[in-house]
Amino acid sequence: MSAIAFATPRVARTDTPFARDVVAGLSARGKHISSTWLYDDRGSKLFEDITRLDEYYLTRAEIALLERHAPEVGALAGPRATVVEFGSGSSRKTPLLLAGLDRPGLYVPVDIAAQFMVESAHALKRTFPRLLVQPAIGDLRTLTSLPLPPLDWPWDPDTGPGRRIGFFPGSTIGNFAPEDAAVLLARLGRILGPGALLWLGLDGTQDPGRLLPAYDDREGVTAQFNLNLLSRINAELGGDFEPETFKHEARWDTHDRCVEMHLVSRCAQTVEVLGRSFWFAAGESIHTESSYKVGALRVQAIARIAGWSTLRVFSDEHSGFNAYLLQRDVTET
Ligand code: AVJ
Repeated sequence: MSAIAFATPRVARTDTPFARDVVAGLSARGKHISSTWLYDDRGSKLFEDITRLDEYYLTRAEIALLERHAPEVGALAGPRATVVEFGSGSSRKTPLLLAGLDRPGLYVPVDIAAQFMVESAHALKRTFPRLLVQPAIGDLRTLTSLPLPPLDWPWDPDTGPGRRIGFFPGSTIGNFAPEDAAVLLARLGRILGPGALLWLGLDGTQDPGRLLPAYDDREGVTAQFNLNLLSRINAELGGDFEPETFKHEARWDTHDRCVEMHLVSRCAQTVEVLGRSFWFAAGESIHTESSYKVGALRVQAIARIAGWSTLRVFSDEHSGFNAYLLQRDVTET
């Protein structure tokens, strides 16, 4: 057999969203790269490992809330609902929601990590054989529409069109600053349409003693997750980062109430990406993620501005994690 090597192209493309974001972010005065790009295949798997760590309480908290309250969502949603999940990743929480629904009809996972999403979403059909699964690849920062069956589709008169439920768990919306979160929620409302429901999970924990270990765990999985971004840049954008020369750091910003992840350069150095040179001073960092921690009153106010009414607030008794059941107002906003 002849050995055919599928090498990475020698000339990486400069006109992709990833390339543009990285070059712009590394050229900025305060270097930064959007947390969107943490999720390539390896990053998605590392994030999955994070969700199983002792220190990372968020996932356990939301799973408990879903187990307890999915039937309530199901009662409000009615039969044959269409579930649209934003940032679906492993779809690990999805079966917990689906279990509370009456014969869910269609599942539309939306994620930027295409391969990881599609494999995970189709695995749901083992538990829900009648469920239609129609994945959509998209970036939540720019998503404006989805190929959803129209609400006036000529459905079987006995079953009727299922209600649309947005599923936005995992505190993913916490990666958006509150002003941007309001804009995002309004956009999701336009995608889902009037009368839609939305399950929104968002951590509101304010205790740095709890937060910092959650974002800088003892085993160093979060560090690997963060540093993987540099390996991804090397592989996809012809970069020459030496990941060992950077260190993972989690910081709590008391004023903005967010946990920031940084990659801090251990020394003064120059790094090449897409044929350009970027200079780092020793101790200079790339800001790679903000996780805003927002309490219940503020979330409801943001939702209101974005055209959503809060039907329920579900709170975890062991942490500040909350989930919200929102309903899109019928009138346009
Ligand atoms: C998936 C965005 C909710 O911010 O808690 C986990 C990602 N970053 N550990 C979060 C993450 C570091 C996570 N979200």
